Amino acid sequence: MKITEALIAEHGVFHGLFDYIERTAPNLKTLAEIKTVAGLLDATLDPHSRVEEELFIAPLDHCMDQLGQTQSFHGEHEEIEATLDAIQQSKSAKAARKLLLETVRACRRHFDKEERHVFPMGERLLKARTLNTLGAEWQKRREDTGW
Ligand SMILES: [Fe+2]
Ligand SMILES: [Fe+2]
Repeated sequence: MKITEALIAEHGVFHGLFDYIERTAPNLKTLAEIKTVAGLLDATLDPHSRVEEELFIAPLDHCMDQLGQTQSFHGEHEEIEATLDAIQQSKSAKAARKLLLETVRACRRHFDKEERHVFPMGERLLKARTLNTLGAEWQKRREDTGW
């Protein structure tokens, strides 16, 4: 399996999670409930972003620099992470719920950019053999972590 196919398959799981959070966020009344959902999103998103940076963006870094996208790519991962951290520091359910929904919207925009532009660009710039080798490494990591 190519690394791009593996990452798109992981995105599929997140699209379901984003739908669920958007649907249920209005029913989350307490700050603790909102922090738990944000913590779940953080715990699942973090391994995805990490594997994406290490097994897909790093091999593409020299090309991304040419296209000026590296900064925005790393920046978006960091921004999403920072918003999720801010939810854990939040003192009000209303503010935390608003941040949670903003994070989901930011994730959707980020995922959409990856699916439309970043992954196809990777498929053009990397050789099929490299994409498959990186995909095998992804599989190994997921087996090792039981994810
Ligand atoms: Fe990403
Ligand atoms: Fe992604």
